[in-house]
Amino acid sequence: MVEKHQFLGVDAILASPRMRDLLQQVRKAAQSGASVLLMGESGSGKEIIARAIHHYSTRKLKPFVDLSCAALPEDLVESELFGHERGAFSGAYAAKPGLLELAHNGSLFLDEIGALDPRLQAKLLRVLDTGSFYRLGAIKKTHANVRIIAATNAPLHESIRSGAFRDDLFYRIGQITLTVPPLRERPEDIEALASHFLAQQNPELRFASDAMMALYAYLWPGNVRELRNTVLRSALMAKGPLLHADDIVFSMRSIEPKDCGIAGLEQAMIRRALEDSGGHRQRAADSLGISRNTLARKIRGYGLASAVTTAAQRRLA
Ligand SMILES: Nc1ncnc2c1ncn2[C@@H]1O[C@H](COP(=O)(O)OP(=O)(O)OP(=O)(O)O)[C@@H](O)[C@H]1O
Ligand SMILES: [Mg+2]
Repeated sequence: MVEKHQFLGVDAILASPRMRDLLQQVRKAAQSGASVLLMGESGSGKEIIARAIHHYSTRKLKPFVDLSCAALPEDLVESELFGHERGAFSGAYAAKPGLLELAHNGSLFLDEIGALDPRLQAKLLRVLDTGSFYRLGAIKKTHANVRIIAATNAPLHESIRSGAFRDDLFYRIGQITLTVPPLRERPEDIEALASHFLAQQNPELRFASDAMMALYAYLWPGNVRELRNTVLRSALMAKGPLLHADDIVFSMRSIEPKDCGIAGLEQAMIRRALEDSGGHRQRAADSLGISRNTLARKIRGYGLASAVTTAAQRRLA
């Protein structure tokens, strides 16, 4: 089953049980109003999930404002966040509100929070504790009520141990932590996402089954972003309406599809068969063309028992 959503104007495709479970957690977290720290590899979809949190929250109709802490030098991050008064520094010809003010009553998405300078970490913590701060050069305090959603693709624990990231800020921004799994751990999303991206680029095109096998077999170190780029590039090179394996232009040819490519594909097929049959093992085995015993062995081998239960629960719900 493929779920398609729009979060603040961005399409989100969720097909795997892991992503659909994550979405359940997102809904709960969103409504709690707590700060959320999103972890996950680059390109896995943290920004989309951040938008989903805002979308499902009571702040939905208020602004969603985002800032990448890694994209700018420290001084600029500071003036972006806090804003400044006229004349606060050379070049500050007019007063400017900061993103904290612009996000008032809404959500502030702080991407790559691990890159935030220690001095600004301390300043941010104070804002979150008191709800007020000074624009640069201001003598009067400004108030802002923001919900923080932060993201990092490097585990912060290392930085906390080395002293580069404050643990008190970590606890403050990570009242709830959610992890977006890498694409290679959720093969069911590959087909759904690839078909979605292909249809967006050119609705006349389709993947032949060998092309889909090649997509499944690849490890996607750049996750969904890489899949999207690969599909768009391949669509441009298409020689006809049907894309074959050799039309797919992977960005890292040197990476050999690992054994887990086939295993991943097999797991994905089993999961889908279980889902389609509502957890009915005999029907799933029939649709896969294998015996019930073989299916049982594979379910044990891949640790998919919970997928059977989930599918059955979903059928009964
Ligand atoms: N579930 C999804 N459905 C549709 N598109 C997705 C999904 N997940 C990610 N994408 C797309 O993949 C690209 C990368 O996603 P996103 O920017 O959310 O990743 P990220 O985890 O924030 O990466 P980084 O750590 O590099 O900032 C975006 O173009 C996004 O729209
Ligand atoms: Mg991002």
